[in-house]
Amino acid sequence: MDSKIKKFYNVHEDGYIEKIIDHISKQENSNHDKNDIIEIVKKIYCDKYLKIDWFKLSNLRRWNFINASIRKIRSDKLEYLEIGVFRNENFNQINCINKTSVDPDPKANATHKITSDEFFSKNKKKFDVIFIDGLHDYKQCQTDAVNALKCLNANGYIFFHDFVPRNFLEEYTPRIVKIWTGDVWKVSIELANTSGIEFSVILADHGLGIIKKINETVEYAYQNKQLEDLRFNHFLDLNKVVNYKDAEEAFGEFS
Ligand SMILES: C[S@@+](CC[C@H](N)C(=O)[O-])C[C@H]1O[C@@H](n2cnc3c(N)ncnc32)[C@H](O)[C@@H]1O
Repeated sequence: MDSKIKKFYNVHEDGYIEKIIDHISKQENSNHDKNDIIEIVKKIYCDKYLKIDWFKLSNLRRWNFINASIRKIRSDKLEYLEIGVFRNENFNQINCINKTSVDPDPKANATHKITSDEFFSKNKKKFDVIFIDGLHDYKQCQTDAVNALKCLNANGYIFFHDFVPRNFLEEYTPRIVKIWTGDVWKVSIELANTSGIEFSVILADHGLGIIKKINETVEYAYQNKQLEDLRFNHFLDLNKVVNYKDAEEAFGEFS
């Protein structure tokens, strides 16, 4: 059977790349040199894309799933950790007494105003639910995942944001567009091969990775050499190893 993501595969109409280049050429106040971006676009262009409007696909958002996992664990002592909070849109929605946030940007006003690497190097606490949504770069997300697994209590959950890039622009790292997933999807390929966990990606809110830790020993399946230079077209081929779930189905599994 085809993976649940296959039904969204589509092909850009003829002339799409020219339209993008024209759009970039007319943009004002860009932080990047326009010619550099045009060269990148020509290099990374992929005619396939995923036709997904996340807002139309499901009303369920990242905090709905995180709160469902918190209700499922049902403990007054439950500890929640969020890596990368930005304007606290998600963090403020989390229904839990003991909440910790980590973000080096002073404007985010996190509990710990440091990077995730600095936080995990000092941290002695264990957590039950962790949301990883910091720097959207493969290696950093991989490091965050490995560190989070080490401080996750038995039967705890780890969530990830942005595991489903929809097109070559959203995926390209470093960021060149506003709506950006980065290449953190590569971590989803590794987690699909990691032992000691149950792992799936929920088709809601830009793709929510979810780990349930089922064994004390977790063997993270590093694939750096195979994955580091890959781009969006490779994501479309490699994602067949990932268990994608529709939003309602995944939400129902928490009840
Ligand atoms: C996509 S935003 C987070 C959004 C938030 N989780 C939400 O759902 O509303 C990413 C945040 O990660 C932070 N960030 C960037 N590098 C980081 C790092 N190395 N460690 C922790 N946070 C980082 C950024 O400052 C930014 O605020």
